[in-house]
Amino acid sequence: MDIDIVPLSSTQLRPVPVNGHGFGSVFSNRMFTQEYSEEEGWHNAEIGAYHSIELAPSTAVLHYGQAIFEGTKAYRRPDGDINLFRPWENMRRFNQSAQRMAMPQVDEEDHLNAILKLIELEQAWVPDAPGALYIRPVMIATDEALGVHASSRYLHYVIVGPVGSYFREGFNPIPVFISDHYVRAVVGGIGAAKTSGNYAASMLVGREAKEKGYSQVLWLDGVHRRYVEEVGAMNICFVYEGQQIVTPALSGSILPGVTRKSIITLGRDLGYEVREARIDVHEMLADIAAGKITEVFGCGTAAVIAPVGKFGYKGKEYIINDYQTGPVSRHLYKELTDLQYGHVPDPYGWTLRLPVNAAEPVF
Ligand code: PLP
Ligand code: COI
Repeated sequence: MDIDIVPLSSTQLRPVPVNGHGFGSVFSNRMFTQEYSEEEGWHNAEIGAYHSIELAPSTAVLHYGQAIFEGTKAYRRPDGDINLFRPWENMRRFNQSAQRMAMPQVDEEDHLNAILKLIELEQAWVPDAPGALYIRPVMIATDEALGVHASSRYLHYVIVGPVGSYFREGFNPIPVFISDHYVRAVVGGIGAAKTSGNYAASMLVGREAKEKGYSQVLWLDGVHRRYVEEVGAMNICFVYEGQQIVTPALSGSILPGVTRKSIITLGRDLGYEVREARIDVHEMLADIAAGKITEVFGCGTAAVIAPVGKFGYKGKEYIINDYQTGPVSRHLYKELTDLQYGHVPDPYGWTLRLPVNAAEPVF
C-alpha cells in the first residue's frame, strides 16, 4: 500500500499537551484514512491532519451500525524507543470483526504498516510510563442508502492519542454490578466481534449501575443469565486461594481479549495454575462468601488489570479481598506492564519495537 503523506500547515501542528490526559479525549495532529469500494478495493490511503468526517444523513453506518474498531497501545521504553504490544493480534481481530459484520478485509500487514507510519510521525505524542499512546483503528459503512444490506463502500481510519489511567480509581478496586436482566451478547450474535452495537447494548445497564453506585457491569450469558462472561469492556479472571486463575472459556459471545490471552500464557509461566472454564455466577458468589476466591480482576488493553472490590447481585453485596488490590493482580500487572514498556526482555516475541527516528521497525 502506498500512503500519501500530506504535510501539515503550521496551524494544524498543535503542541503535545503536558500531563493530565485521562482516557480518549486528546488526539494527535494526524490520522490515517483509506476508502473502499467494490470496484476499486482499498484506495486513497493517506496520512493527513486529524479532521472531522462529513457524512450524509443517509449514510449506512448511522442507521444500521455496520462499524468495527480496535484498541491497542504504543508504550515509551526507558531507552526512548517505542513498543507496540502484540499488534498482530489486533490486526487479526479487526478482520475477524469485519468478517462477522459483512465488511471487507484489510490487508493485515498494510494495516500495521499504516499504524507504524502514523506513530513514527506522531512519536512525540507517546507519553512516558505510566501513560501510553492509545491507537484506535475504525471501519464504517459509507453507502448513502436506507436499504438494509451490507454497504458497498467503507471508510477505514486510525486515530491516536495519549492516555493515562482508564478508571478514575486508577489501579484500585472497582465496584461491579451483576446484571441479572439485560445481557450484552448472545451466542450466534456479535459479542465476539469488536463492533459498536455491543457497546450500545451496554449503556443502559452501565447507567443503571452508576446510579446504584457501581462503576462497571458484570455480564452473564444471554441464554441462562447464569454463566459469567465479561466485566464492562474487559475480560474477567478469578483467583482461587491466591494461586489458581480461572477465566470464562470463550463461549462465542465473549470478546477474545489480547490481555486475557497474554495473562493465560504469562500466568502459567509465573507458576499459577490457569484454567478456562464455564463459571456459574451462584457458585462464584458462594466461593467469594466462603473466602475461596481471593481476588477478581478485569483485564483489557485500556486498564491492563482492574481489580474488582465487590459485586452487587440481586440486592446483596459480596466483598472481595477486603476491597483491596490483591497480590496476584499486582504481580500480573507488574509483569505485563514491564513487558509492554520494555522494562524487561521479552521472551515471547510479543513486542514490536519502533526505534525513535527510524523508518523501519525492529521485529
Ligand atoms: N471485552 C471487551 C468487550 C472489550 O471491548 C475489550 C477491549 O478491547 C476486551 C474484552 C479486552 O480485550 P483486549 O485485551 O484485547 O483489549
Ligand atoms: C479495553 O481496552 O479494555 C477496552 O475495552 C477499550 C474500551 C475503551 C472500549
